Amino acid sequence: MLNIVILAAGMGKRMQSDRPKVLHTIAGQPMLFHLLITARALNPDRLIVVVGHGQDQIKAALADQPDILFADQTPQLGTGHAVMQAADQLFAGDGSTLVLYGDVPLVQVTTLQALLAASDGGLALLTETLTDPTGYGRIVRDDSGHVVAIVEEKDANEALRSIQEVNTGMLVASTPALKRWLGQINNQNAQGEYYLTDIIGLAAQDKVEINTVAPQFAFETQGVNSRSQQASLERQWQNELARQQLAAGVALADPQRFDVRGTLACGRDVFIDVGCVFEGQVVLGNNVVIEPHCVIRNATIGDGTIVKAYSHVEQAQVGAQVQIGPYARLRPGTVLADQVHVGNFVEIKNSVIGHSSKANHLAYVGDADVGQGVNIGAGTITCNYDGVNKHRTVIEDDAFIGSDTQLVAPVRVGKGATLGAGTTLTQDAPPHKLTVSRTAQTTLESWQRPTKKTK
Ligand code: UD1
Ligand code: CA
Repeated sequence: MLNIVILAAGMGKRMQSDRPKVLHTIAGQPMLFHLLITARALNPDRLIVVVGHGQDQIKAALADQPDILFADQTPQLGTGHAVMQAADQLFAGDGSTLVLYGDVPLVQVTTLQALLAASDGGLALLTETLTDPTGYGRIVRDDSGHVVAIVEEKDANEALRSIQEVNTGMLVASTPALKRWLGQINNQNAQGEYYLTDIIGLAAQDKVEINTVAPQFAFETQGVNSRSQQASLERQWQNELARQQLAAGVALADPQRFDVRGTLACGRDVFIDVGCVFEGQVVLGNNVVIEPHCVIRNATIGDGTIVKAYSHVEQAQVGAQVQIGPYARLRPGTVLADQVHVGNFVEIKNSVIGHSSKANHLAYVGDADVGQGVNIGAGTITCNYDGVNKHRTVIEDDAFIGSDTQLVAPVRVGKGATLGAGTTLTQDAPPHKLTVSRTAQTTLESWQRPTKKTK
């Protein structure tokens, strides 16, 4: 039986924020959520989050995750005290307990699997060797190399401080033994806290085998205590995500200027230029090109499509060989068939655009069903909102919408119809005819341009 306890009661004072630290994000997702996803991959029987500061906000953020149990730690008297608050909820009987820190969000499943394997019913610590171990608990070993204790920096003498192997904080212990040891620790130390790390000395006295495992990546054990550490960890994680894309064959103009806040699945020979942000679930087909500074959120983009610079694509489904932008905005509910062209300063919302149709300049297409081979001229606007309700515009195949046309919905443009430039369409336009609403052009023969008055 596996228990996982995540310590998240700390205040996070150095973040200078009203939000509890563990709800601050890495790659668009609260740190605690990263850990919960990792924790669930280990199939725990109990998943317990120890909360204290900001617990109302944390519980609200996790309200739709009913598998999580909470333990309240108020006041916070140390990491050992924190785990003690979860003791009652640990799965009774045999098994292990894995302790994670809510502000160390990027530990990987494989590392924790190795830690669980190394615990072997006893105790295992995730440790690492640092050139600058300042601030960390030091791993003390005897002459034969067995771990005998962890000493916190503030309690360590000069000799112990020179030890470079440090405690990352993550550990696995046999649950019954952990409960026993926690009952024996005290707060007689430099910080007056109940240290979880004191169980190591007790385990060594009980002749329990203490094994150590090292993380694969440096970011796995990096904690976030400040905005600066958050930004640093964000970039390390983005570098890792970029590395994974490059390894999978995606061409990135600059892996340092690439951000994924969700999942990005790419086909073959995709090219992504600098400064793009991918959010939510994004799927790019083969040979897709994303030019600089695009934001793409929850979208699917088909083979050979090019998204030109500075375009926004959100909740859109885009076909193959489509051209978008530069400076285009596809809003939720946009569906573009193959070979559609959407040019600069065109906004599309909740609309389906058929095969090969084009809106190349300055248009708003909202709540519309546009057929195939339609040409939407510059300055065209669907007037979809009457101030109370939204209405649909239907434009059938091969229609030609002249520039600066307003389509006052609900309205339908028939197959092959042409609308003259400047038309305000308030009734359906019949197929294959020219429809135009325009006051007749006049020229005033007697008119003269005013001249400047002399004073
Ligand atoms: C702890 C370890 C130290 C290790 C370091 C790694 C102890 C005594 N020391 O030190 O060996 O090198 O982490 O970063 O365990 N927390 C609570 N309740 C508390 C205290 C802490 O939930 O009463 C949570 C914090 O929110 C945080 C985590 O536990 O997520 C670690 O607490 P922190 O105070 O940062 O521990 P350190 O003193 O850095
Ligand atoms: Ca700390």
